[in-house]
Amino acid sequence: MTELKDQIDRSKLPNHVAIIMDGNGRWARERGSHRIFGHQNGITAVRETVEGAGELGIKYLTLFAFSKENWCRPKEEINSLMSLMISTINSETETLIKNNVRLLIIGDMQSLPDHIRNKLNEVVDITGSNKGLTLVIALSYGARWEIADAARRIAEDVAEGKIKKDAIDEAAFSEYLVTRHIPDPELLIRTSGEYRISNFLLWQIAYTELYFSPALWPDFRKEHLYTAIIEFQKRERRFGKTSEQLNCD
Ligand code: FPP
Repeated sequence: MTELKDQIDRSKLPNHVAIIMDGNGRWARERGSHRIFGHQNGITAVRETVEGAGELGIKYLTLFAFSKENWCRPKEEINSLMSLMISTINSETETLIKNNVRLLIIGDMQSLPDHIRNKLNEVVDITGSNKGLTLVIALSYGARWEIADAARRIAEDVAEGKIKKDAIDEAAFSEYLVTRHIPDPELLIRTSGEYRISNFLLWQIAYTELYFSPALWPDFRKEHLYTAIIEFQKRERRFGKTSEQLNCD
């Protein structure tokens, strides 16, 4: 049988894959363990996915690591998750550099503790000129927050005469989003068999293909990524047009 990886058409790769990593808590519960054990094991899945995406030549990979709503979780879980993310980024910085990975963070950076924000900014700077995979980590991110924040900043710029009200179209609005330098995802994967978007990239996924994997995030491996991409490549993306109209502008 052909290997899954060989079934992928390298000329039709999604440029940007976004992932809602879900199911860490359930994975831990199934093992009679604490939720944080699930998050710890989720790191293996993060490594595999970053490596898999990089090897394929995918340009952008966005991982939803912590939502604005996640601040409501128990303090102990939040602290453990933050420590886990920082220790992972610390221990993986050399690997990111070696593999030409550029790190970007999207989200409400002001809501993060200073030492975490500073560390993240440091690694974003160090990897800033890397030309391989761009790894985008969504941290303290919520799409409604992002859109409301953009609207507020546009209103400020209109009031200050920096932009004219009539110049606000879709492209101009996009420039105020945290993803302004990042193309929209072509493929969004959510793990753990849940069929929700959970306030992730609502503006950016207007035409994104959605793929729901039954795997709990700590079990997610390169093969799951390959399966999602193979499924993506079987679909016809019509952007609101009919099949016959696909070649018209
Ligand atoms: C969702 O599972 C997962 C999270 C809220 C955290 C995911 C974060 C990581 C795996 C760490 C990422 C680290 C880096 C460096 C990118 P859940 O707890 O909601 O699971 P449940 O739905 O089964 O309860």
